[in-house]
Amino acid sequence: MADIDASPRIWFITGTSTGIGRALTELVLEKGERVVATARTPSALDDLGKIHPPTRLLLLRLDVTQPEQIVEAFARAKAAFGRIDVVVNNAGWGDLGEIEAMDEERGRGLLETNFWGALHVSKEAIRFFRDENVPGVGGRLLQMSSYLGLAGFPAAGYYVASKFALEGMTESLAAEIDPAWNIKITLLEPGWIRSAITSNIVWPPAHPAYIANAGLPTSVMRNGTFDNLVTWKSARRSAELFYKTTSLPEPPLHLVVGKDAIEATRKKIASLTEVVDTYESWSEGLEE
Ligand SMILES: NC(=O)c1ccc[n+]([C@@H]2O[C@H](COP(=O)([O-])OP(=O)(O)OC[C@H]3O[C@@H](n4cnc5c(N)ncnc54)[C@H](OP(=O)(O)O)[C@@H]3O)[C@@H](O)[C@H]2O)c1
Repeated sequence: MADIDASPRIWFITGTSTGIGRALTELVLEKGERVVATARTPSALDDLGKIHPPTRLLLLRLDVTQPEQIVEAFARAKAAFGRIDVVVNNAGWGDLGEIEAMDEERGRGLLETNFWGALHVSKEAIRFFRDENVPGVGGRLLQMSSYLGLAGFPAAGYYVASKFALEGMTESLAAEIDPAWNIKITLLEPGWIRSAITSNIVWPPAHPAYIANAGLPTSVMRNGTFDNLVTWKSARRSAELFYKTTSLPEPPLHLVVGKDAIEATRKKIASLTEVVDTYESWSEGLEE
């Protein structure tokens, strides 16, 4: 393994215009590290660009659904800083609605960003850490999943599917890469955090069969606000935790954080354990 470079780390973050990506960018800059902050509309970060010189903050246009823009952004990061230490796959969005009511085209678009975009950034990150950084230095890849990448949630079917896909791809990727490359990957699985994501949500027209029952979870959600769901009142608090994971010498592959996330994950583990235990005997003798 190469010597640890003591100079400030270089971060590459997607979706930095608002919310968690923006909060993390600000935090990393406060820590004296450098950021390649990418966004569909980089001008959203002009205020930060006025405070920090391009030698500390490089603002780049990147829509993660455009693979050629991903390659270009990594190349520009290399030209500016020579290496990248941490890549954060943060860009993402979500709609809500019953699976039967959701517009499939929007659903595909959601997967295009949350899964395919993250996949393409992940591939470029792994390649960069291995082939562009000094051999053996490696890097950290943070995948902004959600506890909804571990457990289903009414009205969030397409979003949940996108995060499950991200989880499955990432677990497989982590099992494939050569430990000698020194690349550490963490799936961030937080609970609900206040950000722009909820205000951008588009609900499809109500499905008559569901809305007819006001007690169904999706009907309750349609009539309510997200205030009861949002447990983390600021993206900054979550950014502080995610930042902390990058200092762990051996970071976990999964990081479930937030009381709602922990509760839901425990429930999922318990229900799976119960099913496995209850039906274990069905597998006896199958190999004979
Ligand atoms: N808030 C939560 O409760 C929560 C919980 C768990 C996980 N997450 C995840 O955290 C990540 C950040 O979300 P947030 O809560 O901070 O929401 P947010 O404030 O809406 O931020 C989402 C960011 O993603 C960007 N984005 C969307 N589509 C993009 C694309 N095709 N290419 C590049 N950037 C794109 C948005 O840019 P524009 O301004 O251009 O739209 C925005 O900067 C998402 O992956 C989300 O799924 C959020």
